[in-house]
Amino acid sequence: MAPPKLAPFLVVAALMLRASHAHLSPFFHAKTCPQLPFVVANVVAQALQTDDRAAAKLIRLHFHDCFVNGCDGSVLLEDVPGVIDSELNGPPNGGIQGLDIVDNIKSAVESACPGVVSCADILAISSQISVFLSGGPIWVVPLGRKDSRIANRTGTSNLPGPSETLVGLKSKFAAQGLDSTDLVALSGAHTFGRARCFFFTGRFDNFNNTGRPDPTLNPVYREQLRRLCTTQQARVNFDPITPTKFDKAYYTNLINLKGLLQSDQELFSTPRADTTAIVKDFAANEVAFFTQFVKSMIKMGNLKPPPGIRSEIRQNCRRVNPVKAYDIM
Ligand code: HEM
Ligand SMILES: *[C@@H]1O[C@H](CO)[C@@H](O)[C@H](O)[C@H]1NC(C)=O
Ligand SMILES: *[C@@H]1O[C@H](CO)[C@@H](O)[C@H](O)[C@H]1NC(C)=O
Repeated sequence: MAPPKLAPFLVVAALMLRASHAHLSPFFHAKTCPQLPFVVANVVAQALQTDDRAAAKLIRLHFHDCFVNGCDGSVLLEDVPGVIDSELNGPPNGGIQGLDIVDNIKSAVESACPGVVSCADILAISSQISVFLSGGPIWVVPLGRKDSRIANRTGTSNLPGPSETLVGLKSKFAAQGLDSTDLVALSGAHTFGRARCFFFTGRFDNFNNTGRPDPTLNPVYREQLRRLCTTQQARVNFDPITPTKFDKAYYTNLINLKGLLQSDQELFSTPRADTTAIVKDFAANEVAFFTQFVKSMIKMGNLKPPPGIRSEIRQNCRRVNPVKAYDIM
C-alpha cells in the first residue's frame, strides 16, 4: 500500500531535478538516447580524418562555453541584432572554430534521438571523445545540461588571455571555483591544436617593453617560431613534439621553456609559484596528469548557469528555438 502513495512524490522529485538541472548524471540519456556516445564518436572520428584540429576545436568550445554563464551552450549562439548579443563577438572568441563540427554532431544526434540532447551536453561529451580519440583518458561524462536562451558577451571577459600573468590566470579560474591544480591540469589541453602567431610574437623581441625577448622562452624554439610565423595570422602547433596527440608533452615543453603562450610558460616559470611543482609532477607522471585532468574536466563541466535563466533543448545549436504561441501570451 505504500508504493501508490509514494509514487506522486517521486514524480514531483524527478520533475524538480529536471527543471533545475541541479544534478548532472552519467545516466541522464541512458534511456532516452542509449546510443549517444557512439553517434558522437562516429562524427568526431569522421571530422578528425579531414581536420587534425577537430578534437582541439571541440574541447576549446566546451571551455569557452563553461566559463561564461556556466555550461549552457551559450557560446554557440549566433548574433541576432537586438536579441542575442553573441559571445562569438567577444574578443576571446575571435577566430574560434568548430561550430560546423558541432552542427554535424547535433544533426546526427537529432536523427538518432530527436529533441532530448542539449548542445551543452554535446560539447561536454564530444570533448571527452575528442580527448580519448587523441590518445588521452576515457571517463564517464555527467550529462543533463540545458541550453540557454541568452548569450552573455560581456561575460567573455571571464576568459583568460594569452598574455595573462599567473596571478590573473589564478583569479579567473578561482572565480569559477577552480584551483591551481585545475588550472595546470586543464591547461594541459594545449597539448594539441594551434594558436595564431599574433598571440605570442610579442615575446620575440621587445617583450613587455623590456627591449629584450621573453627570458622564459627558449631562444632556439623562439627562432623556430619566428620562421613559422610568416604572417601574424599563421597557426602554429602548441606542442612541437606530438602536435595532435593528447599526452603529457605540454608539461615537458614548459620545463624546456617551450610554452607557446606566455600564459602557458607562467605556470612553470613564475618565481615561487605553487604551479611549478604541479607542472613537474605531470611532466614526470602521465597517470597523475590524466587522473587530475578527468577530475578537473568534470569540475569545469559542472559549472552551472545563473539561476532563473530560461533554458531549453535547442533544435539548432546556433539559435534559440522559435517561441511557441503560448509562450508569448
Ligand atoms: C589557462 C588559460 C588559457 C588561455 C590564456 C588560453 C588561450 C588560448 C589561445 C590564445 C588559443 C589560440 C586561439 C587562436 O589562435 O585562435 C588557445 C587555443 C586552444 N585552447 Fe586555450 N587557453 C587557456 C586554457 C584552455 C583550456 C582550459 C582548454 C581546454 C580544457 C583550452 C583548450 C585550447 C585548445 C584545444 C586550443 C587549440 C584550438 C585550435 O586548434 O583551434 N585552453 N587557447
Ligand atoms: C554575464 O556575465 C557576467 C560575468 O560573469 C555576470 O556578472 C552577469 O551577471 C552575466 N549576465 C547575465 C545576464 O547572465
Ligand atoms: C610587464 O610589465 C608590467 C609593468 O612593468 C609588470 O607589472 C608585469 O608583471 C610584467 N609582466 C611580465 C609577464 O613580466
